[in-house]
Amino acid sequence: MTEISRHDVLIAGGGLAGLRAAVQVHDAGGTVAVISKVYPIRSHSGAAQGGVNASLGNHPEGGDDSWKGHAFDTIKGSDYLADQPRAEILAQDAPERVFEMEHWGAYFSRFPDGRIAQRPFGGAGFPRTCYAADRTGHQLLHTLWEQCLKRGITFLNEWFVTRIVTHDGRAGGVVALHVPSGRIRTFAADVVIVAGGGYGRVFAKTTNAYINTGSLTAAAYRAGARLEDMEFIQFHPTTLYGTNILMTEGVRGEGGYLLNAEGKRFMDRYAPSVLELAPRDIVARAIQTEIDEGRGLEDEYVHLDIRHLGADVIKEKLPGIRQIAMDFAGVDPIEEPIPVQPGQHYSMGGISCDENGETDVPGLLAAGECSCVSVHGANRLGGNSLLETLVFGKRAGDRAVEIAGGVSEEAMTGALADALLEERDVVGKLRGRTDGERQIEIRRDMQRTMTDRVGLFRDQGRLADAVRELARLRTRYRRVAVGSGHAAFNYDLIDTFELGGMLELAEVTALGALVREESRGGHWRTDHPKRDDRNWLKHTMATRGRAGQPVIDYEDVLMAGYEPMERKY
Ligand code: FUM
Repeated sequence: MTEISRHDVLIAGGGLAGLRAAVQVHDAGGTVAVISKVYPIRSHSGAAQGGVNASLGNHPEGGDDSWKGHAFDTIKGSDYLADQPRAEILAQDAPERVFEMEHWGAYFSRFPDGRIAQRPFGGAGFPRTCYAADRTGHQLLHTLWEQCLKRGITFLNEWFVTRIVTHDGRAGGVVALHVPSGRIRTFAADVVIVAGGGYGRVFAKTTNAYINTGSLTAAAYRAGARLEDMEFIQFHPTTLYGTNILMTEGVRGEGGYLLNAEGKRFMDRYAPSVLELAPRDIVARAIQTEIDEGRGLEDEYVHLDIRHLGADVIKEKLPGIRQIAMDFAGVDPIEEPIPVQPGQHYSMGGISCDENGETDVPGLLAAGECSCVSVHGANRLGGNSLLETLVFGKRAGDRAVEIAGGVSEEAMTGALADALLEERDVVGKLRGRTDGERQIEIRRDMQRTMTDRVGLFRDQGRLADAVRELARLRTRYRRVAVGSGHAAFNYDLIDTFELGGMLELAEVTALGALVREESRGGHWRTDHPKRDDRNWLKHTMATRGRAGQPVIDYEDVLMAGYEPMERKY
């Protein structure tokens, strides 16, 4: 039987971008539901630590800050691949979005005069990162969750979306599997907003949560949306050695040092004027170079030292970091330096969309990390990710309400019913296949391939190997088996389903990196170590071909008067 529930707007993903969009749809008069594979306050947005950027000029050294300065830093930080008019929107809208969160109850840290506190972050000309100690994402997520509850917004929790349904090329709902029961059904909507976060779990070493598989990015790609600039992966410089849990850039913003095995600060060799506060791509490569040249500890990590800040500052401003370091590395940063190494953190690329979230598929919008509005280009500045969710989540919500309506309900109902049958068949077959290779073996090989060959330092040989290996993994995936056929909470089934999409995203990432013969931002080719604006000042666009293979094309970067120049710090 086809059960139909219908909303003007269905938001897939319950993190910050999804919740901000939901509030906006509601306030603009649309009916809205949020569908999420986890309970929304378990979304990975809650793990964001360091802060959210806005040119408030609250810091004693930040008086002359302006949205123009923020836009400039963002574009320069992006190694000039960001779409400039969109980076301007990000910076222009930032103060309003941050004040809005404050008025909705977000508990920001304060300066003694009561204004929102701001800390320095990498690549920023002024200290403009607003923060709530080192738990900013948690604070913002709970604030938006409360705003959604206050508005009575409908939540469909623990529903895993297997497919975005289209009819005549237009999106009109989803098919989803209910995790607690295994039931599969459809949800109809005039507009679907995808806000599913990143896909960091295609890598072995990542700050991303287990849920960050890019399942909704893969679903959008299969529904016809193009993926943009996927080769641009951000490796965060400081992740905890052993688990790769994030050690926020706020640690360096508060004055933390990086030390090599000789106990020496080394950033003067790589970014002499800003040292530890260079953008992430530069600091991550600097740390890895120290390790690769034999100046790392145990050939694996360097030290992040904050002992000189003193116990009071650490307890007040970095309590989460201290707790994580104690719990997961047995190190109290008040007494000892923290062992850190670079790890995958963020994907600058994603579902290609405009400044209102609209993708190439009518009725399908995207917001947050899964999207590529292209405000981060080749390297995102810390603090611009939380901001992106607020600015572009709101804009997507507004646009969704504007374009809702005019969908042929009858035709879409037929398309949903057909898709439901197909998805029940796909999931049923997967669940029934108990003889074959287990997903975890293929997943581990994919993660190892991505970390070793599509990592911080890349070259033609390693990338070509990765592309070949990923093709082999896709062949192995065709014979994948699920350990149990039970219906309730069958995470093996969900993991297996997700792995198919992860392999596709990994392939687009590796292929884009192989073809792009230059170094820019997070994409560093040791065999092409220079940025090449003449040939490569352009976006990589991937379309899913008929047999599921990516077809690569290119599009111009949108300019607004910020002339590309050499990036020096
Ligand atoms: O280092 C951090 O706190 C991360 C911030 C970000 O990714 O924007």
